[in-house]
Amino acid sequence: MKNQAMNNPISILNVNLAERTYPIYIGTGLIGDSSLYQPHIHGQQVLVVSNATVAPLYLEQVKSALQGYQVDSVILPDGEQYKSLLVWQQIIDKLLEKRFDRRCTVIGLGGGVVGDMAGFAAACYQRGVYFIQVPTTLLAQVDSSVGGKTGVNHPLGKNMIGAFYQPQCVIADIQTLSTLDNRQLSAGLAEVIKYGLIGDPEFFTWLEQHIDKLMERDQASLAYAIERSCNDKAVVVAADEREAGNRALLNLGHTFGHAIETGMGYGAWLHGEAVGAGICMAADFSRRLGWIDAADQSRIESLISRAGLPTSPPESISADQFMNLMSVDKKVLEQKIRLVLMKQLGYSVVTDEFDSDLLQATLNEYGRATS
Ligand code: NAD
Ligand code: GLY
Repeated sequence: MKNQAMNNPISILNVNLAERTYPIYIGTGLIGDSSLYQPHIHGQQVLVVSNATVAPLYLEQVKSALQGYQVDSVILPDGEQYKSLLVWQQIIDKLLEKRFDRRCTVIGLGGGVVGDMAGFAAACYQRGVYFIQVPTTLLAQVDSSVGGKTGVNHPLGKNMIGAFYQPQCVIADIQTLSTLDNRQLSAGLAEVIKYGLIGDPEFFTWLEQHIDKLMERDQASLAYAIERSCNDKAVVVAADEREAGNRALLNLGHTFGHAIETGMGYGAWLHGEAVGAGICMAADFSRRLGWIDAADQSRIESLISRAGLPTSPPESISADQFMNLMSVDKKVLEQKIRLVLMKQLGYSVVTDEFDSDLLQATLNEYGRATS
């Protein structure tokens, strides 16, 4: 079968997880390259899960790489509000209707919503079938397609239903980002900035120097940012696959951010936008604790803002609402809120040891609605 990407540069990173180790392919023009898919497909049946926006753009290219297999597709409605058990069941329905067997492969073609739902279907169908991630947003290429977190939302809490389920491989084609709008590009940058802040200060400085190039979609800068982000994430996941400890660092800004997403109604704010504002709230709280200084806080806010992201939450959420929403979080243990906070710029910790009056001060500062 033809190898359309043969002449294109490709980087291969591994997520090292013993017998579940898998490669992340990063490059341009990879999506139609049959040679990348073939080694990771074990049976004859392939179901491509995509959505109404991505399928018209890229489904045919993926199908062209899968000649010789029985290929079916399921096209979900587009949006975070459809990341629900009800819509997810459409994937299971299709697998059953088409009599897919336990050697089949599910491919998630799209952003984080499609990837999370397709992965969760692969995890559940006949107790687990093969799965390939083909992420097409920046956010999915730097974060959600890597590490095996899959799932759906519940009206009372984000990503509250799901499974850890690793893919066979990740095929991240940077060319697919050319059709992404600027708002979505910025959303992905929130997760990129996160890696700099949790444990890679050099990358944070690189981002300060290259954020304008990233916003202009300079290909070399994008490729570098994707590779470095995937590398940083792969190291964290390899050390703590099921989030017994430090994997929770990947949730910097997310406890505040998930509260924004749930509080506003799924889809009103993009996940990355909520994470951007959440990182600024985490920075504010870290500064109040005396862990970072005002200059660090302002560097963080400036980078978030230059990435086209909000630096504060919507005004309609009150401090009390924040507190309620934040108590429905997977990091909550024995009813104690645990947060990812910055000890220094480029070094974060997961902790429940903080002065709750200072947390309240941050919530009062950012949760401006009267309850
Ligand atoms: P998304 O999947 O909703 O995609 C954003 C939008 O871009 C959608 O409208 C989508 O149809 C469109 N789109 C996708 N690719 C496109 C392309 N190439 N060209 C044009 N349009 C395109 O959102 P997202 O930001 O990719 O992902 C957010 C989701 O990921 C959230 O549900 C979040 O919880 C989840 N997430 C999961 C993990 C994880 O580890 N599993 C990590 C971070 C985020
Ligand atoms: N995005 C958080 C994680 O993968 O753990």
